[in-house]
Amino acid sequence: MASRGNFSGRIGFIAAAAGSAVGLGNIWRFPYETGENGGAAFLLIYLICMVLIGFPVMVGEISIGRNTQLNAFGAYKKIGGAKWGLLGYWGILSAVMFLSVYNVIAGWAFAYFVQMVNGTLSATKNFGEHFTSQIADVSDLFFYSLGFMVITAVIVSRGIKKGIESASRILMPALFIMLLGLIGYSFTLDNAMEGVKYYLIPDLSEITFATVYNALGQAFFSLSLGMAALVTYGSYISKKENIVTSAALVTVTDTTVAFLAGLLIFPLVFSQGLSPSEGPGLVFVVLPGIFAGLGTLGPIIGAAFFLLLCFAALTSTISLLEIPVTFLVDEKGYSRTKVVIFTALLVFLIGIPSMLSQGAVDYFSNFAHYEGITKTVLDVVFDIFSDVGLPLGGFLMTIFIATKWKTANFNKELAIGNEGYMGSFMQKYLNFALTIFAPIFLGLMFIITVLKKFFGVNLF
Ligand code: PFF
Repeated sequence: MASRGNFSGRIGFIAAAAGSAVGLGNIWRFPYETGENGGAAFLLIYLICMVLIGFPVMVGEISIGRNTQLNAFGAYKKIGGAKWGLLGYWGILSAVMFLSVYNVIAGWAFAYFVQMVNGTLSATKNFGEHFTSQIADVSDLFFYSLGFMVITAVIVSRGIKKGIESASRILMPALFIMLLGLIGYSFTLDNAMEGVKYYLIPDLSEITFATVYNALGQAFFSLSLGMAALVTYGSYISKKENIVTSAALVTVTDTTVAFLAGLLIFPLVFSQGLSPSEGPGLVFVVLPGIFAGLGTLGPIIGAAFFLLLCFAALTSTISLLEIPVTFLVDEKGYSRTKVVIFTALLVFLIGIPSMLSQGAVDYFSNFAHYEGITKTVLDVVFDIFSDVGLPLGGFLMTIFIATKWKTANFNKELAIGNEGYMGSFMQKYLNFALTIFAPIFLGLMFIITVLKKFFGVNLF
């Protein structure tokens, strides 16, 4: 087999894995989930989910990848046999479906960046209407989404070190700098502190089952867990690396960016006296309105913001595309370039019904009805492959470690590159979290969620 390539070292892996984690999930989804689920109370539960579930699941995925040095399917099959290989297939299928939709939303961000730069967005009178008609207007979104997929494909085709790692090393620090600059600005606005209070002072009476369920879903989405992205990236790190430290740094980076995105957006929203529970339009409707009110600086700040969103999305689409690409290169031995072109095109085509489901085509826009509401194709794909699918993937991975790979082998893998691991608190913590707490918690959440979402049965 031709050499698969490797990350150049710890920083390269962390930049790429953090790049995968930091994405639309942090800057687009996290603020609106927080705004819809009670502000600081949601933030609190979210942080707990990150520590108790997110971080251990991430360590689990990376260790499976590093141990086998194989793609998602190959990794599960190598350790667990053909049946467990199916879990790898599930991860790859989820990645393809998830990316098909994610790329559509990345296309919105790309469109908004261009419209900020060319002045179309600043000239808009009604931002709600603009957003609604923009996402229905596939005549230009088609090209923005296609453009996004092409950029992703070009980077992935350059391989692990030259493509993925180099892009992440530039894009990630750029993103941090832009974010901090924008927060500095938002804090100078009148009423900004109201937003900060809403975001940081929890009202515990706001916590319901839905808060926990949404926070857990957000943690999986944001850390790129449950679809073998980190099994895939983990397969490219060397045996010298300390997995626990790397996973901890990725978790902290991801949480910090989401936290900062909230710190940017809520002061902006409150400074304009707007509602934080705007839903998925929060970033696309509320923010352009705010930028427009900022005078001559508005378009510059707005363009910086949407560029940031595009950068964040790009390092995530790269990791999503890498999942099926690594699989086809490893298992079938095809050339990376050919595989990238084929997969990127396929994913783009699969995404077209989702793109058309935002008002362009009735059938796709009113595709299903559950949870008491009409769902678009885009909603259905996210419901199945994100909200339900990611925690399910995580759950099965923990069962795999506990029953098939066995905790002792998992520990052995983690001890490589981490001398003090055996017998440490971290070992006990990870063993408990991964083999007892996470399987029970994720299993229960899965059952309750499926009953609630698809069968209208409310246990809580
Ligand atoms: N973590 C990314 C985000 O927050 O936008 C989304 C994502 C990327 C999920 C890669 C899953 C994945 F495998």
